[in-house]
This record gives sequence, structure tokens and C-alpha cells, in this order.
Amino acid sequence: METIAVDTKPIEGQKPGTSGLRKKTQVFMGRHYLENYVQSIFDGIGGVAGKTLVVGGDGRYFNDRACQVILRMAAANGAARIIIGQNAILSTPAASNLIRKRGTDGGLILSASHNPGGPNADFGLKYNTPNGGPAPENVTDKIFAVTKTITSYKILEAQDIDLSTIGTTRMGAMEVEVVDPVADYAELMESLFDFDAIAALLASGFTLAFDAMHAVTGPYATAILEKRLGAKPGSVMNAVPSPDFGGGHPDPNPIWAKPLVDLMMGSDAPDFGAASDGDGDRNMILGRGIYVTPSDSLALLAAHAPLAPGYAAGLKGVARSMPTSGAVDRVAEKRGIACYETPTGWKFFGNLLDAGMATLCGEESAGTGSDHVREKDGLWAVLLWLNILAVTRKPVAELMSAHWAEFGRNYYSRHDYEDVESDKANALFDALRAALPGLAGQSFGPLTVATADEFAYDDPVDGSHSAAQGLRIGFDGGGRVVFRLSGTGTVGATLRVYLEAVETDPARMHQDAQVALADIVNAAEKIAGIKAHTGRSAPDVIT
Ligand code: G1P
Ligand code: ZN
Repeated sequence: METIAVDTKPIEGQKPGTSGLRKKTQVFMGRHYLENYVQSIFDGIGGVAGKTLVVGGDGRYFNDRACQVILRMAAANGAARIIIGQNAILSTPAASNLIRKRGTDGGLILSASHNPGGPNADFGLKYNTPNGGPAPENVTDKIFAVTKTITSYKILEAQDIDLSTIGTTRMGAMEVEVVDPVADYAELMESLFDFDAIAALLASGFTLAFDAMHAVTGPYATAILEKRLGAKPGSVMNAVPSPDFGGGHPDPNPIWAKPLVDLMMGSDAPDFGAASDGDGDRNMILGRGIYVTPSDSLALLAAHAPLAPGYAAGLKGVARSMPTSGAVDRVAEKRGIACYETPTGWKFFGNLLDAGMATLCGEESAGTGSDHVREKDGLWAVLLWLNILAVTRKPVAELMSAHWAEFGRNYYSRHDYEDVESDKANALFDALRAALPGLAGQSFGPLTVATADEFAYDDPVDGSHSAAQGLRIGFDGGGRVVFRLSGTGTVGATLRVYLEAVETDPARMHQDAQVALADIVNAAEKIAGIKAHTGRSAPDVIT
């Protein structure tokens, strides 16, 4: 075996400010591309000589090949040890757990999350720091800087490692420890939740359907829900991960997980339904006849979390991304706990969790999590729900109704306009930004603007400032519309319009969300001129 240095050219890669790199699989498979990015990560974090890293991914096309390349490069760069999931598999939260639990120097996670997989779909890679969370901007900036100057990378000439067998082997001088991807994660879940109570609930005839969407949570959910907790075999649907996720989008929302939604709305619905995404960090929650929005789920979990042993001491605080509905704020206010509003993206929660300022956090985009790892965690949310259901023994719909009766209901929806020409999207934002100062006091239909501003965030832990995080307009009575451009879209610009209306009258708490939000939708159009700017008269995706 011999280490060789390969001459190469800088790559066009990661957008500054993003925590990893997401590209078409073919781009990653292109000559030297993956290698350049891996070397840029290694150099950007000060080299990996003598370090221990966790490596694993969501099993999408190219995951296994890419991991073999990473192993050879880690060995050539002098890494001491790689801890890698069997068959190169690790869900994102399980990787975060291993990074923390084993006291490592961080990890490389291979995933493009809920984006489709396959030779003509998407691939991704990111570095997480020793706290288990996505690298913060000061780290990704260094990695990005290396991608622009890199001229060579180091790689060992070696055979593939057998990743199908659990145990420790060597590649050159580097130790490679192949671990069961599920075991440590399952142990962590068991330390947080009352598994006996959940098992008793399932033994009592309570039924569930978990849609793994042919993605990474299949083995995790089967091991935990079916084997350990006793859910009926087959409760986990689409349980075998496939490189192209069965040809679908592994995105747990009512559009891409429609078969599950249809099941839950039908006459044979089980008591509880849930789904997770490609890499296992997102979740969707349903009850018989009811879809729970991510914002409502976060609020309900915050209200009931102390029923689970891991949260019995109460919550230190809660955090939500700015576009997420204010439902959790109402819980925090009543319970007298701190509530933080952060920019979109999980990395902003990391500081609050590390500092012990928040215990639970979540985003409207189906991400929920806690201080148990530093990523959002789909199966964790499912288990916390099950723990709550096991203790209360009430149906999901009844729990939600009781929640709204106690705290009020925040009707919520997100309207996405995809692949908008960037200059048109920018023109809409420029015009709206200019109009903001004059909006307060103006009426649009029955709604009057109370506040209008552009969200910016001063991190209470490290003092960093994040500007231009979305335009928000609040109405009298608590309604709100937020305009934001996606930071993860791959073609053109994606305009996200977040709509929210607050209802405190119990008689009006069971409307269809789009109906309840009609005035807000109309006001949003009048204020921003979406149609005039983009030529679109309706959103592409409504969630
Ligand atoms: C989207 C979600 C955001 C999430 C991010 C990464 O980002 O909206 O909540 O943190 O994916 O999973 P966006 O495309 O809106 O920038
Ligand atoms: Zn994901």
C-alpha cells in the first residue's frame, strides 16, 4: 500500500454559509470531485492526523463507493481511527450520537436528506463537529476557502475494506471499526423513553404504521418499534433501504408520503402513523383521521415531554426557527420556560442546546429534536409521541383538540413557488423590503398590519449576527406571513411563503387549514404581488 498525492484543480462547491455540499450524484462521481471536497474538509479542519472520525450515510446510490474513498483518504491523511456503520449506513441522528458518545473529532455524513437518490438524482456530504452538530460557519468558511485553492489530495492505494462485517480491521496504519448502526442509537432511545409503557400500549392492541420510505430509518424502526417494542410485524412499511428510495422522494410530508396519509384518513386507519426522511432526521406525525403539522407537533411535545423519563425534570427552554408557527411559544409562556426564535437551519439550535438554554427545538419543515443529539431526529419524535400516547392513553386527535383548547390553535401552512427565475424572485424581495417600513397600520381585507420587518438574529451564546433571514409581517390578532428564499433549492429560486392564523375560539378550531388561512393568503398576495412578480397564480407545493 502506498500513499499517492493526486494533482487536481479547485472545485466549485459549497455555497458559503451552508453546512455541507449537495450536488447531483454525477457531479460527486466526476473525476476528483468527491476527493477534492473530502481533502478540503480535512484541510479545513486542520488535518486529520491522529484523529478519530465517524463515517456513514443514508444508503443512497454512491454511498458505499464514496465511503471507501473517504477511508482511503483518511488513512493517507494519517487518521488514527474511523468508526463506520455496517455497510456504510448511519442515519444522521445516529451519526450525531456516535460522534458525541465516542468522544470523536467529528464525522462525515453522506446524505442529501429528503432529496431523491440515484445516478441521476442527488448526493451530499457534510462534516459535523465533535459536539455532533453540523459545522458552524467559521468551520465551513475554512472548508470553502480550501475548495478554491486545492491542487492535490492524498489517497492510499488499497483494496476496499469489508464493511459488511462488524469488528475492527486496519487500512494501512488506520484502524477501521465497523459498528452496528442501530445498537448505540437504540440504547440512547431506551435511556430517554419508557419502553415498557410503550410496549404495554402496543400489547393492548394499539396499532401503528411507520413509513420508512425505502430510506435509512427502515432498519432502525424495525429493530426498535417491531423487535424491541412489539409492534406488529409489517408495522414498518417500505423498511428496506434502497439506493434510489424506491424511485420516490424520501420526504415525509402529505405529498410524498401520500399513501400513508391516505391510510391514516381511511376507515382501516391504525391508531398512529409516522414517516421519516432519507437520512432519518425529519418526521411526519398522524393520528387516525388527523395530520399533525410539524409546528403543532413541536408544541404538543413541549407541553407533554415531562411524561417521558428523559425529560421528567422539565424543559430548560424551547427553540423554534422563525418561520415555524408560534404554537410552541404559547406552551413556553404558560409553562414559564424560555423560548428562542432562530433563523432557519438546525445549526442555530446547537449553541442553545450546548449552553443548556433549550431542551427541545423544531422547525416547520418536519424537523424536531432535543439535546440528546445535535441533529433533528425523526424516530426520536415518533418515540416521544408514543411515550406520551402510552401514558395518556388518548387518541392523537383528542390530544390535539385538548391542546388547542388549552393554548389556542395556530393554523399553519407553507406555500412554495419552485424554480422561480432568480432575478424575478430578487425583484419581489427588493420591492417588499422597500415597502416594509410603510406597512404597519395598513389594512388588507379584514387584516391590519401590526409589525413588518426583516428578521435578523444575534446568537445569545456566541454573539454572531445573521442578517436577512426572512421578511415577516404580523397582523393584529396574531396572524403572520413570512417570505423567505430557500437556501437548499437546487434549481432557480424557491420562494417560501409561510402563513399563520391564530384562533382562540374553540368553536372555530376544527376548520380546514387552507380555509382558515384564506384572509392571510389574500393579504400575502396583495402585499408581495407574487403573481405580478413571478407570473405564478398558485404555489407548486402546499404543505
Ligand atoms: C429547508 C428547510 C429548513 C431546514 C433545511 C435543512 O431549508 O426549510 O427548515 O433546516 O431545509 O433540512 P430551505 O430550503 O428552506 O432553506
Ligand atoms: Zn434529512
